[in-house]
Amino acid sequence: MPDLRFLPDQRLWLLDTPSTSYAVRLDEDDTVRHLHWGARLTPDQARELAGRIPASGSSFDTAGGPEELGAEGGARFGPAGLQVRFADGSRGVEWRYAGHDIDEGHLAVHLDDRHYPLRLTLHYRVHDDSDVIERWTTVTNTGDPVTVTRCDSAAWTLPHRADYRMSHLVGAWNSEFRLRRAEVPVAETVFTSRTGLTSHQANPWLAVDDGTAAEEYGEVWSTALAWSGSWRITLHRTPAGRTTWTGGHGHEGLTWTLRQGETLETPLYAGLYTADGFGAASRGWHAYVSRHVVEHPAEVRPVLYNSWEATGFDVDEPGQTALAARAARLGVELFVVDDGWFGERVSDHAGLGDWTPNPDRFPDGLRPLAAEVHRLGMLFGLWVEPEMVNPDSDLYRAHPDWVLHTAHRGRTEMRNQLVLNLARPDTAAWAYEWLDRLVTENDIDFLKWDANRAFTEAGWPGNADPDRLWLDHTRAVYQIMDRLRAAHPRLRIEACSGGGGRADLGILTRTDQIWTSDNTDPVDRIGIQHGFSQLFPARVMGAWVTDSPNVATARATPLRFRFHVAMAGALGIGGDLTTWPEEELKEAAELVATYKRIRPAVQHGTAYRLGGDGTLSAVAFAHEDEVVVLAWCPSRPFGHDPAPLPLTLLDPSASYRDTGTGAVHSGAVLADAGMPLDLPPGDHASVLVHLVRVAQEG
Ligand code: DGJ
Repeated sequence: MPDLRFLPDQRLWLLDTPSTSYAVRLDEDDTVRHLHWGARLTPDQARELAGRIPASGSSFDTAGGPEELGAEGGARFGPAGLQVRFADGSRGVEWRYAGHDIDEGHLAVHLDDRHYPLRLTLHYRVHDDSDVIERWTTVTNTGDPVTVTRCDSAAWTLPHRADYRMSHLVGAWNSEFRLRRAEVPVAETVFTSRTGLTSHQANPWLAVDDGTAAEEYGEVWSTALAWSGSWRITLHRTPAGRTTWTGGHGHEGLTWTLRQGETLETPLYAGLYTADGFGAASRGWHAYVSRHVVEHPAEVRPVLYNSWEATGFDVDEPGQTALAARAARLGVELFVVDDGWFGERVSDHAGLGDWTPNPDRFPDGLRPLAAEVHRLGMLFGLWVEPEMVNPDSDLYRAHPDWVLHTAHRGRTEMRNQLVLNLARPDTAAWAYEWLDRLVTENDIDFLKWDANRAFTEAGWPGNADPDRLWLDHTRAVYQIMDRLRAAHPRLRIEACSGGGGRADLGILTRTDQIWTSDNTDPVDRIGIQHGFSQLFPARVMGAWVTDSPNVATARATPLRFRFHVAMAGALGIGGDLTTWPEEELKEAAELVATYKRIRPAVQHGTAYRLGGDGTLSAVAFAHEDEVVVLAWCPSRPFGHDPAPLPLTLLDPSASYRDTGTGAVHSGAVLADAGMPLDLPPGDHASVLVHLVRVAQEG
């Protein structure tokens, strides 16, 4: 059971999760030092560790062992997790321990500066059903204004190992979540977003192991920052062989003023130690997301239709009504109208910000379409981009000062749009007001909340503390979403930023799914989904079946392959259904029905990534008595069909019936010799296997 204990004899806190321990101690000079993060420790074992005196360094190096949040000040030369400048010009901090609070899984350790009225509190929270440790920081100033140039959520420290390897996610628009593994250099490695968004280029998830971990084997320490704006994580491997990382919101160069009485609270930074490989780490995160992040864990995500890829901006009531009729025939449960329904938005050049239905396209507004979609038995969803504006819009003409901008500088347009400054209370109030009205008046069940450009010239002329907008804009997005959800309990939200540019635990706390990538090519998607699944469960991974050849890659693939790849997430359809031949519509309807049968396993089961021969890869989902395997083989040379796929997740003492063939297999045989896969011939072959555990006889 989780437990938080203070051992006063050693000035030591010991945090237990169901199968891990985390320990910190207070130094003689009241510095909070890291002691342990890994397998369970008894209090006596923790005391023994605390008794070790760190080797003293030279007069050229950081003194003492790794800290829980290394602030600037004194003999510290690593990346600082807290940097402040006081009103008198003095920098750095010197702490005096000011007590701690333990309350229902939450530990707060208070440190006061020895001279200035500044308090730092390190927060830790553990749950009884997860090994994830949540951490964050608060800094309170009760004196003259303090300039904060860095305030991280937490620093994480690994035990001594012979080597260290990092796993992280890199990408770009249309190629998000590419998993990379590389040795941690003896250096400071910075992972960051300076875009004001979580970013396509880097994701604030990081895993470190000693270089020997594999999918089902080895110790892995992984962390995820719950923040959807700019962020920075600095991984530091010292020549002496320690590896630590410190991370939090904001990128380098920003400063925030903490006025008298103000508290700066950082986003949550969660960490997970697992002893059984990258697969176990992902399963730990998936369970945590289901239990402690998403708001509606018991729901299943509906099968969605979205015509963006099929129609682009050419949306109108007759066209959407025709698509809705076809979508309903396929078994779609949620019909989403994408960009182009409002203002002068017939292309990406105009209209963004003018959130009233385009009268040429929807002469009677959206209500008739919403009613028709509901009559067809589907939920009604709508695309919005509340943080952005086209300069060619009534909104911008009325409020040119509402956008991020800096005096004497241009206003860089990207995708012909500018970013609204939602840190401004008037802009944020406007955004909430129209969103609330839109949802209320049109009976909207689902919003796809998009954000299609990075921040530039992120200033706020006349504001004395303009960099605060980098934090307050994101907080305003969170507040608007939270208020909308509170006011409309049935409303569900999809997070999107040009595909997967805003995928993190912060946005997931107030959304229900993530649009993973605008790249819907199933071959590319296998890699994207592999990376996404490191942190996020299938239930939040929006995955569409679109037309062939694919609009981005021009690759032609069979419908079944496209479905089988998308069925490993929250299934959607995004093709132009008016062009699908009757036999494809029929096959699609059957595949949607199959998805609904396996959906409890995919969305609520436990996921196992399986590697196969050559290009074969697979994911298995185990849920109660069911196991669903989705296997994909993009290409294979003649005569080299993949070997049977070992299903090591199965219970070797059980038998399983293949619901497709009726054959009963031994779990031991499928785990060891593997499951022969009935792949169709040719490239882009795939198979879905649905096994049900057979009741034991006698
Ligand atoms: C980017 C999204 O990722 C797409 O799915 C689509 O909604 C467009 N924006 C619309 O502008």
